[in-house]
Amino acid sequence: MWEADADLVVVGGGVAGLTAARTASARGLRVLILSKGGPTDTATQYAQGGVAVVAPEGDSIESHVRDTVEAGAGLCDIAATRSIVSAGPEAVSALTGLGAVFDTGRDGDLARTREGGHSTRRIIHAGGDATGAEVQRALNSAGMSVMFGSPVLDVVVGRDGVQGVIALSGNGFGVIHAPAVVLATGGLGQLYACSTNPAGATADGIALALRAGAVVADLEFLQFHPTVMYVEGGRGRRPLISEAVRGEGATIVDHNGDSVTDGVHPRGDLAPRDVVARAMADRMSHLGADHLYLDATGIAGFAQRFPTITESCRAANIDPTVDLIPVAPAAHYQCGGVVTDTAGRTRVRGLYAAGEVARTGLHGANRLASNSLLEGLVIGARVGEAAIERQEAARPVAEVPDTTRARLPRTALQELMTTHAGVVRDEIGLRDASRTVARDSTESGSATVDAVEDAALTLTARALLLAAITRTESRGCHTRSDHRGSREELRRSLPIGLAVDGEPQLLGPDALAPTPWETATSRAS
Ligand code: SIN
Repeated sequence: MWEADADLVVVGGGVAGLTAARTASARGLRVLILSKGGPTDTATQYAQGGVAVVAPEGDSIESHVRDTVEAGAGLCDIAATRSIVSAGPEAVSALTGLGAVFDTGRDGDLARTREGGHSTRRIIHAGGDATGAEVQRALNSAGMSVMFGSPVLDVVVGRDGVQGVIALSGNGFGVIHAPAVVLATGGLGQLYACSTNPAGATADGIALALRAGAVVADLEFLQFHPTVMYVEGGRGRRPLISEAVRGEGATIVDHNGDSVTDGVHPRGDLAPRDVVARAMADRMSHLGADHLYLDATGIAGFAQRFPTITESCRAANIDPTVDLIPVAPAAHYQCGGVVTDTAGRTRVRGLYAAGEVARTGLHGANRLASNSLLEGLVIGARVGEAAIERQEAARPVAEVPDTTRARLPRTALQELMTTHAGVVRDEIGLRDASRTVARDSTESGSATVDAVEDAALTLTARALLLAAITRTESRGCHTRSDHRGSREELRRSLPIGLAVDGEPQLLGPDALAPTPWETATSRAS
């Protein structure tokens, strides 16, 4: 078994992880970044729409906060939301300082588009619809070295908190001794048959955090993006048709040419994402259809504004200037995750989380479009600052844990979750899925990337199903056909941790409270 030593281990190579790493190493910490894929195998790489950040004119922090909270359907943490939104302009400046180039208008100012749930045009973008690729390019070229192809199996925790991680690399299992670890592993899209997420979105951080003793919440709020390109039998990562296309005037129609969102919400096709996905699911069910259409034929200069989408359409023999684009909702973003404060601290000393894997309270029950790159930049930087507080902590990994895990093969898990925990769910289906996962999972070691990923997906599915069963109401991204309305007594997050037998269990509301090891200095951030 190989060994290494660091002040901070960063797990994940997307926007949050690389921002945390860059900030921490600028403060003098010895940082080791582990990524199980290659330099562009991240969800960041595929983000299209942009970064939601308050515009200097005709916009305000309060307006952005209001839109975020409205989309979040009663579950946003307003103080956390204000803290993150306020830090947006500075975070974007840091990124442009690193060389990221955003699109500008004829006046030379940043061009801004609009997406669902936003009351104004505040979303900056790059390369038309290739914002994530530009953010990733800028961060990748910042000169940080990353151990690619190296999944993390466990975060080791002792009496004084984090001691390090167990990882797998080309040289086999290894131990990295470190007093601070940041999980920046992205989301869980691969729990579903179709997703906009890359192949590596396998809930690794949720499983690592739960096993380390941290708390997760809001996992039932899995956001389905309304407009993902549909092809019959398509599986895995599917091309996203950015909401910005609707921001520029496209509309969702059914096979008869009728609007799907008319009369559903005052913002019509630009209603919050959960509203649009639900309207689509209802129309598809009513018509017995497996997809609908996006009509973008009225958008002038489509190919220049949306080059990535144009390429995806061409690959499917669709000309978006004359053809309707077949679309259906697909898994897109995990609104919940590992519970953290606004500096990324979990309840486990020395364990931080940032980006999609984390639940800061910004997204509530439904994330507002393009708030995710913003959150990754802001919280990533704060984690990089906060990790200094662990520099003096004891670090050697005292005992290497057993890595035997329960897992269900991925395809079976995806079928179950797609059938029973999709846009619309009910108790019978959710309980059926939960029983099947518990009954059919088998235990084995974790010597391959697939084995590590399947175990993470299996544990996360169990936690998600527990939350979805318990939430006997419809709110945000969580729609129960057997409980169509919201219930005031459920206007709260449902924290989940692992019991001593390793089973996910519901915890009391105190588990959402700020971390006991929070310092006065960082609390101010
Ligand atoms: C999109 O471009 O529609 C996706 C943006 C996001 O998920 O925030």
